[in-house]
Amino acid sequence: MADQEKDLYYVEGIPIPETPLPGERPKPWKATRIIGKAVPRVDAYERVSGSAVYTADIVLPNMLYGAILRCPHANARVKKIDSGRAKKMPGVHALISSDTPEGDVPWTYGGRGSKFKTKIFDPLCRFEGETVAAVAAKTPYQAWDAVRAINVDYEVLPFVSDERSALNKGAPAVHKKGNRLMRPQVYKRGDVAQGFADADVVLEQNYRTECEVHTPMEPHGCVANWEGDHLTIWESTQGVYRVQSSVADILGLPLSKVRVIGHYMGGAFGSKLQPGKYTIIAAILARITGRPVKMILSREETYLATGNRPPANMTLKAGIKKDGTLTALDFTCVGTGGAYPAGGTSGVDWQVRDLYTCPNVRTTSTDVYINAGPARPFRAPGHPQGSWALEHMMDALAKAINTDPVDLRLKNIPLYSQARDGQPPYTTTGLKACLEEGARAFGWKKARERIAKAGNEGPLRRGVGMASGLWRAGGGRPPSTIILKLFSDGSVNLNMGASDIGTGTKTVMALVVAEELGVKLEAIHIEHADTGTTQYATSSGGSKTVPTESPAVRAAAVSVKQQLLEIAAGDLKVDQATLSFEGGSIVSRNDPSKKVRITKLSGLRKRGVVVGIGYRGPNPEGKVTNPFATQFCEVEVDTRTGEVRILRFLGAHDSGRVMSRLTYDNQVFGGITMGIGFALTEARILDGNHTGKMVNRNWYDYKIPTALDVPESMVSLPIEINDTEANTTGAKGLGEPVTIPTAAAVANAIYHATGIRVTTTPINPVQLCRLLAEQRKEG
Ligand code: MOS
Repeated sequence: MADQEKDLYYVEGIPIPETPLPGERPKPWKATRIIGKAVPRVDAYERVSGSAVYTADIVLPNMLYGAILRCPHANARVKKIDSGRAKKMPGVHALISSDTPEGDVPWTYGGRGSKFKTKIFDPLCRFEGETVAAVAAKTPYQAWDAVRAINVDYEVLPFVSDERSALNKGAPAVHKKGNRLMRPQVYKRGDVAQGFADADVVLEQNYRTECEVHTPMEPHGCVANWEGDHLTIWESTQGVYRVQSSVADILGLPLSKVRVIGHYMGGAFGSKLQPGKYTIIAAILARITGRPVKMILSREETYLATGNRPPANMTLKAGIKKDGTLTALDFTCVGTGGAYPAGGTSGVDWQVRDLYTCPNVRTTSTDVYINAGPARPFRAPGHPQGSWALEHMMDALAKAINTDPVDLRLKNIPLYSQARDGQPPYTTTGLKACLEEGARAFGWKKARERIAKAGNEGPLRRGVGMASGLWRAGGGRPPSTIILKLFSDGSVNLNMGASDIGTGTKTVMALVVAEELGVKLEAIHIEHADTGTTQYATSSGGSKTVPTESPAVRAAAVSVKQQLLEIAAGDLKVDQATLSFEGGSIVSRNDPSKKVRITKLSGLRKRGVVVGIGYRGPNPEGKVTNPFATQFCEVEVDTRTGEVRILRFLGAHDSGRVMSRLTYDNQVFGGITMGIGFALTEARILDGNHTGKMVNRNWYDYKIPTALDVPESMVSLPIEINDTEANTTGAKGLGEPVTIPTAAAVANAIYHATGIRVTTTPINPVQLCRLLAEQRKEG
């Protein structure tokens, strides 16, 4: 039995990659055996069968349920809290608020750059959904009953819910110092006035994108459990270490006393990069009651209090020469992160600054406060908003100089980052290939000819549109530490602190291990996202998870291989440099009779396990790694109803190496789907006239695209440029660039179909019918 060989190795075909000497950088993979292939996710069965344990599935003995009373007003001061009746209700174990000593806990809104220190329960509630009190009870129903039985005397205050009027004289002040977050942020290069003077054509246009809410399938939530002075939190999060440090900081605990676990999660899109107040509240309630407390937010709570992609009001003035050379871009943006510092305008100007070659650029960003829930990073923060303006404008410029929109972009492709200090070159710029190969695969020219020939006169009008983008972050970065254990039967355990936020991170990392060691995917088990048992990792976000973690995984696998070769050299009494891997064996290249099964290696049998540790190496100095994208779509507009049907979409993406073809395509389709929602249907609607409250805080009234709203034909076209500098796997990051140009591509297709430039999202039938009616009147 002990010697029975399990078939854990691939034996056929492509050799296991060469093992670099210690300290040497692994060479880029050439032909790969499994990297880039379309293999099902390693946890597919768990996910579809319901056996995957999400935070909401955690049930502990004696567990209580938490619920939060949230301010029902856009702006109000809590004058008095009467919780006498609530406390005596059946099942209630604890109640905390600003009136109870246990509720007196610090909280900070905002992050780098701008911070606002407040309390978990601040009597001044600056947005609807702000926390007022919380209850722990035996059942969720009892908790909610008790929350409803708390009587609060509010002084309802005037509110401002529209960032466009927040700086008006007499606008209600969200904060004592007024509604201006900071001085307008100005970026400048070259001479904009000269650029406009040099232009043959100058266009100027206002644009607006509405506030979009993350609405992940799985709501935010946690379970908190104390054992003595040690706190364990199960949290639906993108980063367990980020939650650990925040919780330890707020509750005054050493990091070693806070364990955060976040195994499966059902989406986040940036809204779960940070812990919420609910996490701290659950921990406090658990401490008071001496019992575990589960706190899962309702859908409505997530709409109000767990972030959003804030609205953007943009103006773009652009100058261009007849030959397509951009001469000047002048961009302004007024935005808001809501009631607290939350990056209301951050990232919005980046496409304008950096996507196309332009010597003269100025951007001015003004961030103001309004009485609404704070924003949070949302899939490529700022970028889809800025893309809406810039890519609309590029389409209009192309029309103005009578050039094809693809050709205009091809004319202005940068090979270095113009907006960064020192203007460092990109490790690779795939924008040209995205445009050319994407246009070819989509049939761009033919489609335009076909539509022009058909005349496009009837009530159903066809149009094609395209847009490009780049993602400012991406490329990944240190640190990451990975531990890989090769057991005596050849099976492998991979230990990684990073979360798989639904994107397929675990699958990608398993593929890296399988590629390097030649073991089958079934022989690999991954332990991840647990501060108690796995290595430090930064949060999964910024499209940097794969480019950050995969090189560390590769390094850990290489370390295992080096150790195995060393043991084999001893066992076979040959020089280590002459040995290679072959299936599940190590063999001498000089003498094929010198061969040993990995599982028979003396050192492995003696120790029981070989442990490899891998670190993420540094990024190349003086260079930038950015993913690039171009998307194309065809639409049909019903000019009688204002309905838009998207017939097909193609995403051409330069994200470096395709690590896993299925998860790659999943990201492309998901990003396009999300972008379609941003373009056509999604908008947080605040009742600005009467209450300031959000009126569409549920999945009926806030429309996200379903399977019926996306085109049948979605094509993912990877533009695989071998990036040998970015990192040792060549991945550049994909999750965010896939949603940057989508909405603008849709808008440009609608223009092509109708001749109407819809400059404000969402392009819903109400808006489109109005614009079509105006067009008929003018026509
Ligand atoms: Mo992302 S917005 O970094 O999850």
